[in-house]
Amino acid sequence: MKASPVAFVTGAAQGIGLAIAKRLAFDGFQVVAMDRQADVLRQAVKPLTDSGLAIQAAVADVCDRASVHQALLTQDGVDVMVCAAGIYNDARFLDLTEQNFSQMLEVNVVGTFIPAQEAARRMVSGGRIVTISSRGALGGTRFAHYVASKSAVIGLTRAMAMELRDKGIAVNAVAPGFTDTPMTRSAPPEMFAQWEALEPRGKAASPDEIAHAVSFLASPQTHFITGQTLFVDGGKSLGGLGI
Ligand SMILES: NC(=O)c1ccc[n+]([C@@H]2O[C@H](COP(=O)([O-])OP(=O)(O)OC[C@H]3O[C@@H](n4cnc5c(N)ncnc54)[C@H](O)[C@@H]3O)[C@@H](O)[C@H]2O)c1
Repeated sequence: MKASPVAFVTGAAQGIGLAIAKRLAFDGFQVVAMDRQADVLRQAVKPLTDSGLAIQAAVADVCDRASVHQALLTQDGVDVMVCAAGIYNDARFLDLTEQNFSQMLEVNVVGTFIPAQEAARRMVSGGRIVTISSRGALGGTRFAHYVASKSAVIGLTRAMAMELRDKGIAVNAVAPGFTDTPMTRSAPPEMFAQWEALEPRGKAASPDEIAHAVSFLASPQTHFITGQTLFVDGGKSLGGLGI
């Protein structure tokens, strides 16, 4: 019997990453859920494992190559790598510091590059890398450093897709709109409500709606799609609704 294909998901202790890990396990992948928050990760994965899903936890910081490498060694190979770990914080452009900026790029861009590269080195033809950008890559106010990081993820995705297409590895980005996760819930409730009101349907996406798009790009049927960014934002990227 053929062993299950293997998918790694970073940032999988909560929010979008966790929903992706769950979705891919339902799709039949053996999933390795990676995150730097050890306790939160284990607590999130345990009920899933108990319910019979093939998910295991691996504590790793996406900015630390050695820990990412160790996580990858828990499996014989890698079919799919989803780079969902990321951070967000708010700051007016005029107040941003180099430290704010560098930290954002370090986690969101270098933290996408390292797991993607480590995975690509171990992938054979048919492999898939899915990165997580954001609708915010198109612009926005009070988060220029995040906008820069998520635009960089799109550029990196396109460049990886070009270099890896000869190896038969497809690389695509999913760019979620405003999604209901611990990241966005960490904002004051009145700010969450303001953001939600700006969404085309007046409400945030659920993490499962984002995971569904990742599942599509991770599936064997979509091998001819590469270098693309799929906006999953209810049409907000079409404009006309403010930030
Ligand atoms: N929530 C949204 O509205 C939204 C919209 C667009 C894009 N995104 C992107 O989706 C991804 C997931 O966002 P979320 O809302 O689920 O966030 P979240 O904060 O709820 O979850 C992010 C996870 O990433 C992990 N993480 C952060 N830095 C890490 C590191 N260095 N190493 C390993 N793990 C690390 C965190 O521990 C956390 O578990 C992020 O890349 C985010 O930028 C989110």
